[in-house]
Amino acid sequence: MSQKPFYVSTPIYYVNDKPHLGHAYTTVACDAKARFHRLRGEPTQFLTGTDEHGQKLERAAREAGMDPLAFCDMNSAKFRELWEKLDISYDDYIRTTEERHIRGVQELWRRVEAAGDIYLGAYAGWYAVRDEAFYTESELTEGPGGAKIAPSGAEVEWVEEPSYFFRLSKYAEPLLEHYEKNPNFVQPESRRNEVMSFVRSGLKDLSLSRTSFQWGIPVPGDESHVIYVWFDALSNYLTAPGFDENGVREGSPWPTDQHFIGKDILRFHAVYWPAFLLSAGVPLPGQVFSHGWWTVEGQKMSKSLGNAVDPHWLIEEYGVDAIRYFLLKEIPFGLDGDFSHGALIDRINSDLANDLGNLLYRTLNMVKRYREGRLERTPSGDSEAESAFCEFVADAAMKYERGMSATHFQNGLRAAWEVISCANKYIDSNAPWALAKEGEEDRLRSVLWHAVAAIRVVAAMISPVMPASAQKIAAQIGLAEDWANAPYSELMDMRRLPEELVTSIGAPLFPRIEDEAKEAIQEKVARRIAGGEEAAPQEDVKEEISFEEFQKMDLRAALVLEAEQIPKSKNLLKLTVSLGGETRTVVAGLAKHYAPEDLVDRKVILVANLAPAKLMGVESQGMVLAAEDGEHLLLAGVDETVTPGAPIR
Ligand code: MSP
Repeated sequence: MSQKPFYVSTPIYYVNDKPHLGHAYTTVACDAKARFHRLRGEPTQFLTGTDEHGQKLERAAREAGMDPLAFCDMNSAKFRELWEKLDISYDDYIRTTEERHIRGVQELWRRVEAAGDIYLGAYAGWYAVRDEAFYTESELTEGPGGAKIAPSGAEVEWVEEPSYFFRLSKYAEPLLEHYEKNPNFVQPESRRNEVMSFVRSGLKDLSLSRTSFQWGIPVPGDESHVIYVWFDALSNYLTAPGFDENGVREGSPWPTDQHFIGKDILRFHAVYWPAFLLSAGVPLPGQVFSHGWWTVEGQKMSKSLGNAVDPHWLIEEYGVDAIRYFLLKEIPFGLDGDFSHGALIDRINSDLANDLGNLLYRTLNMVKRYREGRLERTPSGDSEAESAFCEFVADAAMKYERGMSATHFQNGLRAAWEVISCANKYIDSNAPWALAKEGEEDRLRSVLWHAVAAIRVVAAMISPVMPASAQKIAAQIGLAEDWANAPYSELMDMRRLPEELVTSIGAPLFPRIEDEAKEAIQEKVARRIAGGEEAAPQEDVKEEISFEEFQKMDLRAALVLEAEQIPKSKNLLKLTVSLGGETRTVVAGLAKHYAPEDLVDRKVILVANLAPAKLMGVESQGMVLAAEDGEHLLLAGVDETVTPGAPIR
């Protein structure tokens, strides 16, 4: 019998909107895990896709004036397009509007029904369309204008309609038993505890169908209902590899070994999903791994902040692998973290350019200089230093494997960086330049060969996270195109580097981002947060806005009280401005156009309700308007007699 593939999945994404950083995060993590298993030579199945039914979708399509399916086609394609750019190696892509899925969902429904777990009733309660979730009164808080708000921040609405229910209450005990017996079923541990206490507090039956809209899968035998979108969506993990009237397809990779999800959708995956499967008599998945949430530049992600971390833009600005690396290295997988351009640039400069890039460059440079690019293994040149080095790397390889297997990407990457730093030290203390000078040919060859041997181990270790860079490194050290297909144990063993190789130096893998470029990026970030960057500034072809939209902007006359250059910044000035009763700190990219002293006492126009943003460590609480006139920036003016704080309409 052939080995069951290691089967991993991402959530299927809602296509009411285009993909953002949060979606990219879950998908990159899942991709790294899939690639790690492939590296270990295991058959692997990686599933992703899109969630296309439900009320949210129906509404979004209506607002776009489009037929729901055409709308889904359009947006589902945007996800695929991003995955392509992000080097996502999925094996299958499921859309819930596909026939194979619809059939499978209806079959799962029938099985749950046959188990006696579905009954007809009526739902009267709260529903959040944004989350596609039901909430009880006690979960809600009061929002602005008396609106009722779910814990997720979504607004709820009152729903009263006939509904089929799932006997979720019946599954509290079996679920608890499952969590007890399978301590890794929900990870990380803190999430497991959360799920267990939720289940212990008692489960209520779950509304499993809706009648007030059409866009969904019809309930078998009662077409006036559509199946609840989460029952529909969760089933994708089962329907994609094959599930129908005959049950789980023979040879299917089911059950999923690991579901990657964000903490916001934990309850659906760790409680409802296994309960549906228990009811239908289908084996349960191995693990639900719930990751944390990113804030952006210190704030909760919103439309405008999302714009400042638009994945397409990030890729363009920094390259795919730098983004993938940052996402998985910056925070322990499972915890929340903050995404900031400053932190990303620091990581690129220190970890990627300085540590990794430099190791590769200096090593290959010496191989070129002293050996005309040729590497040769010369055991007679080995000394104790080489065995110590190899042992250190073998140890790091164990840490790497432990980290990656446990989905602790940070630990896995840390082990790779231990090898990098050890290799750098090894080169420093064995000084090939001195060996060359002294004519110690055998030692010289051995030292260079071992340095490159460590680089190959590093390339293998980073390949799940930075596949393209790993491939480039391998090419530069002279390995064959299919080098990564070698057995895993060989890839992790320095001594298994081919005895002879011809190396070649390529373009730097990760160019340093110098201060000036960093600043230019920070300015773009600020403009994107302000919402102006996406449309090309010169062409002036911005989308039409309504008067209401215009009125959302709080424009004010402001008086500049103080202006100073921000240390280490060539473009940015820190301004203190008065709005009459209030003073604000504002960062403005005017330093190349105005001397600070020329700005003091000037009246300017301030966008006063712009979300605050940190630029070069200074929090900017608004934006000063200026005209972009070719190369020049000229302040937008108001009559000098205006009182500071006066609204501009
Ligand atoms: N369609 C459902 C999932 C159904 S799975 C059977 C859904 N889709 S989603 O489009 O909202 O995307 C969900 C994924 O994006 C989740 O894993 C979620 O945690 C992730 N993120 C969305 N915003 C995020 C952040 N700000 N940070 C990290 N991940 C976040 O839910």
